[in-house]
Amino acid sequence: MAKEKETKVDAKSKKSGKDEKLFWVDSKGKRVDGRGINDLRAIKIQAGVLPNADGSCYLEWGQNKVLVAVNGPREVLPKHQANPYRAIVRYTYRMAAFSVTERKNPRPGRRETEISKVSGEALERAIFLERFPNTAIDIFVEVLDSNAGTRIACLTAAAVAVADAGIPMRDLVTGITVGRADSHQIVDLNKHEEDAEDAVDMAVAFLPNSKEVVLLQMDGEITQEEYSKLMQVAMDNVEKVYEIQKKALKESVENKKPEVVEGMEQYLSASPADHHSDDHNHDSSPKRGKVSMKEKDPFSFGETDYTEVEDENPDAEHEAFDAGKE
Ligand code: CDP
Repeated sequence: MAKEKETKVDAKSKKSGKDEKLFWVDSKGKRVDGRGINDLRAIKIQAGVLPNADGSCYLEWGQNKVLVAVNGPREVLPKHQANPYRAIVRYTYRMAAFSVTERKNPRPGRRETEISKVSGEALERAIFLERFPNTAIDIFVEVLDSNAGTRIACLTAAAVAVADAGIPMRDLVTGITVGRADSHQIVDLNKHEEDAEDAVDMAVAFLPNSKEVVLLQMDGEITQEEYSKLMQVAMDNVEKVYEIQKKALKESVENKKPEVVEGMEQYLSASPADHHSDDHNHDSSPKRGKVSMKEKDPFSFGETDYTEVEDENPDAEHEAFDAGKE
């Protein structure tokens, strides 16, 4: 895709060679990149892009480009991390060295650790973890290109990838950023707007049907009244993102085998009530090896089951992971 179009800020400073007074929202209600105050950048979502993963998603949100792979539910390695009552979610957010204007140190920093933690916890609110005791759901997120709002872009993509893996959830998780520039409340801030002197930048993620908040982070200072208004702006606009997520899942369903579609039906159902029912009918006995959620070989027609598949060498993957960290 073409690079995000040159903003008025770039154009102005190039022309005059010095800083000018900027209007974050001009008299016509236009922002520096030409959007209105409630306009999102263009969003494209494609599910099921990585055949080797159990679930996957590629998302573009303006200039942000992210790729998500989901593996699991599968055996927990190292074993001591296993929870006998529920699955654990391991969310790994990473930014590629080339994803920012200044080269980023590829070593994971505190920011990536923080984003991984809060995003994993947000998804935990959505997934029926208790159905898969002693297992791990691993979510690997790579930011390939960035221009503010990557944690929300990644979380939104990750929810689609989890659904694509056929993992049962109460609801998808859908995120949006809202904030303030001058005295205007705006949606989906870009990097210029986020870096404005008095900017307020609030990342929010919801379970979109119940509007339960599962992630909330903010930079800047606002009054309680402003916060309530911003939250309303977030709720009013998050639906747009949710619709694009559902569309991506519907499109990917068309390319899937019937038994996989069965596991994904709940995300496509119209009734919010469906998203909240948990029948507890699943086998909850501890499992070894990989938990097979679906038949992945497109040329075989085995039954969908939750039975274990023994790894020939269950520690191999963990050893490889550790080796990679050194
Ligand atoms: O991406 P998000 O808005 O969720 O997180 P942030 O910490 O507020 O970062 C805002 C933006 O700063 C990112 O989207 C990147 O474009 C940029 N950034 C950067 O240039 N270098 C970094 N090491 C981290 C972020």
